[in-house]
Amino acid sequence: MAVGDELETITFSSHGEEWVEFGPPGARRRVGFHDYAALYSVPGLYERVFYEELGMRSGTEVVGLLGRTLEDLGLRPADQRVLDLGAGSGLGGVELRGLGVGHLVGLDLEPMAREAAGRDHPGVYADFRVGDLGAWSEGEVAELAAHRFTAVVALSALGPGHAPPHVLDRALGLLEPDGLFAFAVTPTLLPGSDDPSGQATGYPDFLDELLRRRARELGRHAYVHRRRTDGADDLGVALVGRLL
Ligand SMILES: C[S@@+](CC[C@H](N)C(=O)[O-])C[C@H]1O[C@@H](n2cnc3c(N)ncnc32)[C@H](O)[C@@H]1O
Repeated sequence: MAVGDELETITFSSHGEEWVEFGPPGARRRVGFHDYAALYSVPGLYERVFYEELGMRSGTEVVGLLGRTLEDLGLRPADQRVLDLGAGSGLGGVELRGLGVGHLVGLDLEPMAREAAGRDHPGVYADFRVGDLGAWSEGEVAELAAHRFTAVVALSALGPGHAPPHVLDRALGLLEPDGLFAFAVTPTLLPGSDDPSGQATGYPDFLDELLRRRARELGRHAYVHRRRTDGADDLGVALVGRLL
């Protein structure tokens, strides 16, 4: 039986994106829509819900834009040493390996993410760290820096409920000058956004400063990140750049 077959029909809370229900009749289970520990603990559940049921595209869109950028720059994916920030269960990692990325390290706040990535996508990550990069000691950061990253990728892992600007800033600090970055963000996080929830994250100002003073933007494009459970589209933006 393939991973996830026993999930059977997936149903969603009728108001808001509160929960997801899965499993065979008589043994249905319910988990919070953003309860990553619970989602990752069930083999294939996150993939089934977000990729198959809701059509999540951020990994494909951002990794695709990164691939085209590498080509434009004359860089080989195989030479890239990538930190996947907020790697989750490893679906973005699978896309990065599909692009041909040579060395890939995952990092996530949630311990169950590492377990799920190792269980569902073994061999995708050369190393997978768990914890809050923003709170790590210089020694812990130095250990991560030993991977000599050429790029930081963050797929649907920045913004409200996800990594804040100071964590992304620390991840970017692991890169040499010329290091690349590729993010999937919501439009509300972009420079110039006056959306209150985006503003509250600090990302509009952080990204404005990054793109104006510390980096060169190499590519940006908008896409539908996924369907919401009420049928509306959730928008995403792929953003790729290079540190000066
Ligand atoms: C929507 S999931 C995306 C997972 C994966 N990148 C993908 O595309 O499938 C967001 C992930 O970001 C992680 N996350 C949230 N805050 C974080 C932080 N401060 N540092 C690292 N990971 C974080 C969550 O635990 C979760 O696994």
